[in-house]
Amino acid sequence: MNIVEGETMADDNTTAYGSAADEAPASVEGPSGFDFRGLDVSNTTAAPDSGKPGKTKTSGKDAKDTKDAKGKADKDAKGAKTKADKGKDAKSTKSKTATKVAAKASSGTAGADAASNGDDLASLPLLFHPITLRGLTVRNRIWLPPMDTYSAFAQDGRPTPFHYQHYVSRAMGGFGLVIAEATAVAPEGRISPHDVGLWADWQIDSWRWIVDAIKETGAAAAIQLNHAGRKGSTGCFGLGYEHQTVPEEAGGWQTVAPTTAPFGGYAAPRALSVDEIHGLVGAFAAAAGRAVAAGFQAIEIHAAHGYLISQFLDPLVNTREDEYGGGFEGRIRFLLEVADAIRGAIPDDMPLLVRVSATDWAAGGWDLDQTVALAQILKLHGVDLVDVSTGGIVAGVTVPVKADYQVPFSAQVRKRADVPVTAVGLITKPKQAEKVLAKGRADAVEIGRAALRDPYWPLRAADKLGVPAEKAPYPQQYVRGAY
Ligand SMILES: Cc1cc2nc3c(=O)[nH]c(=O)nc-3n(C[C@H](O)[C@H](O)[C@H](O)COP(=O)(O)O)c2cc1C
Repeated sequence: MNIVEGETMADDNTTAYGSAADEAPASVEGPSGFDFRGLDVSNTTAAPDSGKPGKTKTSGKDAKDTKDAKGKADKDAKGAKTKADKGKDAKSTKSKTATKVAAKASSGTAGADAASNGDDLASLPLLFHPITLRGLTVRNRIWLPPMDTYSAFAQDGRPTPFHYQHYVSRAMGGFGLVIAEATAVAPEGRISPHDVGLWADWQIDSWRWIVDAIKETGAAAAIQLNHAGRKGSTGCFGLGYEHQTVPEEAGGWQTVAPTTAPFGGYAAPRALSVDEIHGLVGAFAAAAGRAVAAGFQAIEIHAAHGYLISQFLDPLVNTREDEYGGGFEGRIRFLLEVADAIRGAIPDDMPLLVRVSATDWAAGGWDLDQTVALAQILKLHGVDLVDVSTGGIVAGVTVPVKADYQVPFSAQVRKRADVPVTAVGLITKPKQAEKVLAKGRADAVEIGRAALRDPYWPLRAADKLGVPAEKAPYPQQYVRGAY
């Protein structure tokens, strides 16, 4: 009965539009302070939350993978084989496995395959098939999910060199889409005072160098836009107050929500007025516009894990009696307005993703049927993919955490709503991930905590699944070190 779910680490409440609001704090290094001068920044071609993650039993096996890899590397180092031999071996022994995996793969994934050579693709595991959403072709189906790093230490919402290293190393490690962590659309929408944001224009440049470098590797860059609602103003490492509300004198704020009901033991929020809800719709759209200006290629709306949008969705939380509450139609209204507003603020060929909790794991609450109905409607509002997670909305529930535990939800949403989906949650092994795609349970998989311990997860997966090095997503500079 672990509760996994990232963002859930801190849950909750108070906000003060105050310190981090509309102007760049004079005491903090300006946006240009993080310029990365060596890069060409002109390219714009075409990636439960602060978590209290459950324990996984996979680390032992991962350690074995690492040992295996080390063994191989040692062999190479001893010069047991020439490079040419190694290449030959790789082709003959590995392509067998690749063909086997591909043959097992069922035909249909909902997302359109990219325009690559079909014969080439047939020999590759599905994980390494590109996928196209609107105008964006992502090089493979191994994605980095949004994971809050609580590392905007200046409390100004700007990402730092830590974020650069964190995201760019995963892009270099072969991930297809790198989805940047929950990024606040308003200062009081932060989960913690150390969350990143895009609520002001002066924050744009601090993202640009990161986005440019992600794209430079061949990965695509997406960003998750969030408002934490009653789960804002919570503590985190480096600040303290973990799993508590941060008091205003320590940088916290009065939180807002559909009603004044608190989450668990967090401080009570203030109920939003209809005018304020309209203002927040505008804040999401403005932040999306800034994300486009920073070079991001896709936007994800965070409508999961008990943050503001999912607070509106869930009947156990949203007891409003106006047009933003009541029945299903009222509860999904805020999300639909956000989706419409963002769609209007980003280019037509840019994909829009929505992350949902497919269930709150509570009786009488938000569930799979409502999620499927919502996904069907989201398609009509210009949403291209649903990122299927669960939980985080209602405190004190039991979540049956185990490998693949959320995959049945993504499979159902994909099948019943006929929409591309991602699966996430304790998917840690290459064959396990490949199977999710081969069985048609998702169009892409997201590797979260396993990617925190191994930024090169996709390159390792390519080796395990028999992908020849030249078809694996190695940065040019690393090809000579290929498995
Ligand atoms: C440290 C951490 C931070 C997270 N932050 C976010 C977040 O910002 N937004 C989000 O939607 N989910 C967040 N999550 C949830 C992850 O995206 C993912 O759904 C979850 O960890 C389960 O996947 P995994 O088992 O592969 O780690 C976070 C998880 C962790 C561990």
